[in-house]
Amino acid sequence: MDEVKRRIEFLREEIHRHNRLYYLEQSPEVSDAEYDRLFQELKDLEGSHPELIATDSPTQRVGAEPQEKFASVEHVVPMLSLDNGFAEEDVIEFESRIKRFLKTEEKINYMVEPKIDGVAVELIYESGELKQASTRGNGYVGEDITRNIRTILTVPYTLTERPETPFPDRLEVRGEVYMQLDEFAGLNQERESKGLPVFANPRNVASGSLRQLDARVTATRRLTIFCYAVARPEALGVKTQYELFKYLRLWGLRANPDAAVCESIPDVLAFYRDLDQRRHELAYEVDGLVIKVNPISLQTRLGATTRNPRWALAFKFAPAQEFTVVRSIEVQVGRTGALTPVAIMAPVQVGGVTVQRATLHNEDEVKRKDVRVGDTVLLQRAGDVIPEVVEVVKERRPETAVPFSMPLNCPVCDSEVVRLPDESAHRCPNATCPAQTKGHIIHFMSKNALDIAGGPKLVDLLVDRGLINDPSDLFFLQPEELSSLPHMGEKSAANFLESLEDSKDTTLVRFIYGLGIRHVGVHLARVLAERFGVFEALLEAVAEELEEIGEVGPKCAGSIISFVNNPRNRDLLNRLTSPEIGLILKAPARRTGETPLADKTVVLTGGLTRMTREEARVRIQSAGGRVAGSVSKNTDLVVVGENPGKKLQKAGELGLEVISEEEFLAMLKE
Ligand code: IVH
Repeated sequence: MDEVKRRIEFLREEIHRHNRLYYLEQSPEVSDAEYDRLFQELKDLEGSHPELIATDSPTQRVGAEPQEKFASVEHVVPMLSLDNGFAEEDVIEFESRIKRFLKTEEKINYMVEPKIDGVAVELIYESGELKQASTRGNGYVGEDITRNIRTILTVPYTLTERPETPFPDRLEVRGEVYMQLDEFAGLNQERESKGLPVFANPRNVASGSLRQLDARVTATRRLTIFCYAVARPEALGVKTQYELFKYLRLWGLRANPDAAVCESIPDVLAFYRDLDQRRHELAYEVDGLVIKVNPISLQTRLGATTRNPRWALAFKFAPAQEFTVVRSIEVQVGRTGALTPVAIMAPVQVGGVTVQRATLHNEDEVKRKDVRVGDTVLLQRAGDVIPEVVEVVKERRPETAVPFSMPLNCPVCDSEVVRLPDESAHRCPNATCPAQTKGHIIHFMSKNALDIAGGPKLVDLLVDRGLINDPSDLFFLQPEELSSLPHMGEKSAANFLESLEDSKDTTLVRFIYGLGIRHVGVHLARVLAERFGVFEALLEAVAEELEEIGEVGPKCAGSIISFVNNPRNRDLLNRLTSPEIGLILKAPARRTGETPLADKTVVLTGGLTRMTREEARVRIQSAGGRVAGSVSKNTDLVVVGENPGKKLQKAGELGLEVISEEEFLAMLKE
C-alpha cells in the first residue's frame, strides 16, 4: 500500500513538473506519448485506490460532477474595466491627464500588453493553494467557477514559493482565460464533422466553456490563461508592473511574453503599430493594446474612478466593418419609457459575429446619420463594444426611401409621446404602459438585481395575461397560474417558484439596484447600501444627506428623492418590504479597522499645494474614508489648504476636528 502511495505521489509530481516544462517554459523533457503513459498509470492507480485521490491530483483536471448553479462571489477589490482609446491622440491625452492629476512634468514609463479577447477571471490563492476562481460579473460580484478553472492545465493548483518571491497569505490574481486560435480551429472542425453548430469566435467558446455547469465539458475545451494583475500590488512590495510579471512567472503563473516596457508615449505608439502589423501571427486573438503606468507607486497615487483605473488605457485596434441593408427601423420602449429606434438589418458577419440589429439611440442620432429604411449602411463592431451604424452609403439609397421620424404615439400603449426640453429621448409618459411595467419587472429579476430565473418572454406572458403588474406580484404567483402558461410544464413552474424563493435571501445592494431608480446603477446602489445599511434609512434620507456622499450628485439625489416620494413607488416599496414576502436585505460588510480614515467623512477646503483635489479624494477613499462636499454635524475631519472658505468657519462653529495639509499627509502615511 505504501508503495502504491509513493508511486502515486511520484507520478503526480512528475506530471506537475512536465506540465510546467511544457506549458510555461516551453521546453518539454519527454515525448507526448511518454507523458500520456505517466498520466494513464496515475489514473489507473487512482482508479483502483479511490481513497488515495487528492483534489490536487492532475487527473482531477478532467472536471468534477455537474453542479446546479454557480454561487456568487464578492470581489474584495472590485474588478474594474478599462477606459478605451481609439486614436493616437487619445493616448497622448491619457498621458496629459495623468501628468495633470499628479501635478508632474517628469517622464513616465509604461508597460504595454496585448489586450486579450477572452474572459476576465480572478483566482484566489491562500498560502499558495488555489482556493477559488470567479468571473468578473458586474465588477463587484461574479460567479464561482472554481471547478471549471481547475480543469485548465495552465492554472497551477499550488504556487511555487522562492525566497526572493514570497507570496502573501492571500493572493488575488487577475487574468484573462482564452482559447488559442489553433485550438479554436480544431474544435470547430471537430464540431462540423459531427454536425454540431460551430462557435462564432474564441471569446464565445471561452466564455461558454467557463459557464458550463458540468466541468467535464470545460475540461474538453483546452482553455488557457494569461495573468496580468493582482488585487493589491503595493502590498507585495513589487515596484513596477514589469516586476509583477516576473513574480507571476516565478510563482508558476502564465504572463504574456509579448509584453514590454516603453520609456515614452512615442515608444508606446511604435509598439502599437508593430503589434497591429503582426497581430495575425499571434497564437491568440487580440483587440488592442493595454497601456499601464509601470511604477506601482504611481498606479496607487492615480487610483481609479468608479469605473476604470486612471493608470491604464485600452488602445483598441480599428474595429471590423461590413456593409449591409436596413430592412426596417423598430421603435422600442424601455423601462424608463424612453423610445429607442433600432435598425433591423440583413444579417451580416462582422468580426466573427452575426449582427442584425443596431441601436440608433434617439431621433437626433438617426437624423444626424440620416438612416432610412432601404439604405445600405456601414456597420462596425469592436470586440466587446455593441455594433453601431457608422454611416449611410448615400449613392446606394433607393429613390423611395423616406426620412425617419419618431412616432407621435407610444407603439405599445398609444399614449402621446413627449420630449422634455433638456433631453435627447422621446418618452412615453404613461407610468402604467405595459412596456414600462415589463421593463421594471425584467430589471428587478435581472442578474445584478434579485437574480430570478426567467427572461423577457415569461414576463411578457405574465403581464399580458394580467397575472402580474409590478415586481411584488411575482412573489404571489400560484403554481397553477404558472403551469397553465404555454411552454411551462409543472417542472418549469416549480423551478421558477424555487428561484423566486431563493431570491428572497438577497442583499440591500441588489434590492436598491433592482428598483431601477434613474442614475442608480450597481455602483451607486452599493454606495447607498454602505452608507445607509438598512432600507428604511434610505427612504427617510433628505437631499442634503444624499449629496454629502461624494459620489451622489444633485441630479442623482433628486432622482432618488422623487422615486421614493412618488406615491405609486411608495406603495410598491411597502409591498416589497412586507413580511408576507419576507425579503432579507443583507447590508454590505463595512471596511473597518486598520485603515487610518476607516468610515470617516472628510471635507476639503481651500487650495491644496502638495496634490490635486482629485488625488486627495482618491487617497481618502483608499484609506477607507469618504469625501463630502459640505460641512455638517456628520463630518469627522476638515482638511484646510490655502485661503479656506466658509467651510472652515462652519467647522469652527460645530467644533469639528480641523487639520492642515501637512498633518493630513502624515495621517495618511500611518
Ligand atoms: S488589466 C484594473 N490587462 O480587458 C485593470 N486587462 O476592458 C484590469 N484584458 O476586464 C485589467 N487583456 O478582461 C488588463 N493585458 C490585459 C488585458 C486585460 C485583456 C481585459 C480584461 C478587462 C478588460 C477591460
